Amino acid sequence: MALALIVAAGRGERLGTGRPKALAALAGRSLLQRSVDLMHGVREIHQMVVALPPGVSAPAGTTGVPGGAVRSESVARALEAAGPGDPEGVIVVHDAARPLASLELVRATLGVLAARDDLDGAIAAAPVTDTIKRAEPPPSRGPVPTGGHDPQAPDVAGVVVQTLDRSTLWAVQTPQAFRRAALERALDVPAAVLAQATDDAWLVERLGGRVGIVESSGENLKVTTPLDLELAELLLARRGAASFHDAP
Ligand code: CTP
Ligand code: MG
Repeated sequence: MALALIVAAGRGERLGTGRPKALAALAGRSLLQRSVDLMHGVREIHQMVVALPPGVSAPAGTTGVPGGAVRSESVARALEAAGPGDPEGVIVVHDAARPLASLELVRATLGVLAARDDLDGAIAAAPVTDTIKRAEPPPSRGPVPTGGHDPQAPDVAGVVVQTLDRSTLWAVQTPQAFRRAALERALDVPAAVLAQATDDAWLVERLGGRVGIVESSGENLKVTTPLDLELAELLLARRGAASFHDAP
């Protein structure tokens, strides 16, 4: 039996609709409702808690809790609102901002954790396809070339110090599944540490937890900007068309 925590309390500033991102509609259903419906479809999940923005009520079949100032604080609040549970139990955390996550992906994170005693967590991630470089801030401009430099000429944004080995890099997503005891310990840290976390797995890793990667695809995108929402609409339309053609 598993508990699902859905974090939906962000302000959606980069989406810029003037209301919480979780309420943004995608092909007729809000991002929040899509994540809730997804988790309702997973047999192992028996309880769902949703971290919500102010003024938004909890969808049917879930417990709502006001979110925190940062994402990990919202996760911590949702976990607290769930009440005590079996330390051996499993918790799956998901961002409402990823409305295209599939049932198979949620099941795969739960399945990996069930099958591997050596892991404290199993997280969805996609192989990195871009070449990633580390850069330092640009130094002040060097000596002025003969004839002086053009003050209008563009400057560099940084200077490359390292090209990372792409074959070892993963772009991390949600769902992320954890053993309850590991996640509880990971979230029981000062607010400053929670504020530093960009995902829950890092909080588990920093205490020595072992986290496995479940390969996902870039299609499980995070809706951040209006362009992402458009892309998500297109991907959903394609899925709809595919299931229409697959129908007997
Ligand atoms: N989130 C949350 N509580 C916060 C901040 C974020 O529950 N205090 C949730 C968001 O609702 C989202 C996920 O964490 O589902 C990932 O955050 P992000 O994509 O950054 O969403 P927003 O914070 O809403 O967007 P923005 O940063 O553009 O304001
Ligand atoms: Mg944010």
